[in-house]
Amino acid sequence: PRKIIIDTDPGQDDAFAILFALGSPAELEVVGITTVGGNVPLPLTSKNALKVVELAGRPDVPVYAGCPGPMVKTLMTAEYVHGKTGLDGADLPEPVTPLQSEHGVNYLVRAIMDAPEGELTVCTLGPMTNLAMAMTMEPRIIPRLREVVLMGGGFFEGGNATPAAEFNIFVDPHAAHKVFDSGVPLTMAGIDCTYTAMMTLEWLDRLRATGSRAAIEAANLADFYRQYGSHKFGTPGRPIHDACVTGYLLAPDIYEKRQCAVTVDIVSPETIGMTVVDWWHVTGRRKNCNVLRRIEPAPFFELMLQRISAL
Ligand code: BDR
Ligand code: CA
Repeated sequence: PRKIIIDTDPGQDDAFAILFALGSPAELEVVGITTVGGNVPLPLTSKNALKVVELAGRPDVPVYAGCPGPMVKTLMTAEYVHGKTGLDGADLPEPVTPLQSEHGVNYLVRAIMDAPEGELTVCTLGPMTNLAMAMTMEPRIIPRLREVVLMGGGFFEGGNATPAAEFNIFVDPHAAHKVFDSGVPLTMAGIDCTYTAMMTLEWLDRLRATGSRAAIEAANLADFYRQYGSHKFGTPGRPIHDACVTGYLLAPDIYEKRQCAVTVDIVSPETIGMTVVDWWHVTGRRKNCNVLRRIEPAPFFELMLQRISAL
């Protein structure tokens, strides 16, 4: 299986992404999870990550708390989407397993330096602070990574945090800029892509009906998350952003994509945090990012249903 570290701020859709990955042990080995302040503050994202690995029956997956907030800006959270706890809607007991004592950034550096070159993939599902800090502390990790697959950004659909910027990139644009500029192989699941796979009520009913504990609690989370609404397209469906990262690792062929030059704006007051995608290659700049544009929803949701209910 492909070895991955999940860097995350759970978060409803983060929980789906983690369960989807842990339910796919033949293809993915989650070697560790690092947490970051994002959807809710760090103590909650860390606790939530522990709850999710326990729900998956995988308390052996170590969880490391990373940075509480962005490199330069002040933390902006999203309780209006994910609830006060970050995982409102589900009834998950207090985690039994403790957090690891090592800092998440130190763990990233150690794990990547210790692994064979080209082995580890880092999946970022929140603001990219931890990875950017790790790259700053130890630049030799950059050529050692196989790939960074991130949920963040968007270009054609505009932003969801500002007219120009998606939440994860907007919260820590400087971190994203550092990673996009680093030369590491990148795949970006931005909102252009995530809004093409809408989670429907029918699918949630099917998930719940599988009867597994993980599936039922995931459906409970989604019931809360879905209330936040579909202001964007006026449809009853909701995108399940972070899970699109796991879906890509498992089934890249159901995604439409293009290698492009992508930069992150960190200077303009109106568009800070925007991922500027050179889709037509007009700048001639190095194509640093595999930009995911569209998902085939049916196979994506079938696979996720199968994997989460298998836990
Ligand atoms: C991203 O923002 C967060 O609220 C979600 O967890 C996801 O990572 C979507 O813009
Ligand atoms: Ca997230």
